[in-house]
Amino acid sequence: MSKGDTSKHIPVLLDEVLKYMDLKGGECVVDGTINGGGHSYEIARQLSGEGTLIGIDVDASALAISRERLSELPPKVILINGNFREMERLVREQGIERVDRILLDLGWSSNQFENPERGFSFLHDGPLSMTLSPNVEEYPFTAWNIVNEWGEDSLTEIIRSYGEERFARRIARAIVRAREKGGIERTRELAHIIAEAVPKRFQKKGIHPATRTFQAIRIAVNDELTVLREGLESAFSILNPGGRLLVISFHSLEDRIVKHFMRKHASQGEGILLTKKPIRASEEEKEQNHRSRSALLRIIEQN
Ligand SMILES: C[S@@+](CC[C@H](N)C(=O)[O-])C[C@H]1O[C@@H](n2cnc3c(N)ncnc32)[C@H](O)[C@@H]1O
Repeated sequence: MSKGDTSKHIPVLLDEVLKYMDLKGGECVVDGTINGGGHSYEIARQLSGEGTLIGIDVDASALAISRERLSELPPKVILINGNFREMERLVREQGIERVDRILLDLGWSSNQFENPERGFSFLHDGPLSMTLSPNVEEYPFTAWNIVNEWGEDSLTEIIRSYGEERFARRIARAIVRAREKGGIERTRELAHIIAEAVPKRFQKKGIHPATRTFQAIRIAVNDELTVLREGLESAFSILNPGGRLLVISFHSLEDRIVKHFMRKHASQGEGILLTKKPIRASEEEKEQNHRSRSALLRIIEQN
């Protein structure tokens, strides 16, 4: 196995990202969600010894994989364990004022998702955690607190707004009823309660009925939408003139935030939209990589 494929995670829209990065070699590039370095490995191959690659991830264990993978490539590599919502501070702390390209590939990698201990997946039984960083103590609450302690109205509200789930009230009621018989501790247990609450005739083939509710809880635990809004502004503020921000999102709530953010800066004359509509994966990529089916790439160039 080469260093290019030490992770199970397959980078999405890789050709499109590289095309719009349009690297000459000496640039400073920030990968704000580097994970195991799927995109960054190919980016680093296009950078010269004059170039710099800064990789950020909240998950320190993912950074270790990147460090190994990027070790023999030409650019200077700086890896930071942190949250991209603070990108400006994290980059400036390295003595770097401005950068040329920034990539955000939102969400989780397949490796994180499939690790039962992280509690993201209803397909793998694990504790109700869902925290972005494995350091659970950094969080005011985890999925366990939401599921076991939040009232029916608050549960309904997040499942409806963050999951866009039409059966939010029924699911919230089922969770509250189930926990009266004892706490809900495991992801499978929660997935089962949700599946029972969604009427069978509305369950779609190939989509687990807990998908939207799990998404909602994850977003709430990590305050993902606020983090995204702040992260986009922070990233845009450190771009050089002509610098580009590329964002890959995976659901409509995220994409709406990215779209509004980019349109706002373009209409204020601060940037040029390089994508009027989001770029989607080709049919071929969708067939090879299930994750790419919902990927949406948008790009803005700083004026
Ligand atoms: C989809 S993966 C990125 C995969 C990577 N582009 C690749 O091809 O290998 C998203 C990564 O972003 C990280 N992440 C999510 N939200 C973050 C945030 N707010 N700040 C920093 N990292 C974050 C996750 O821990 C995960 O490692």
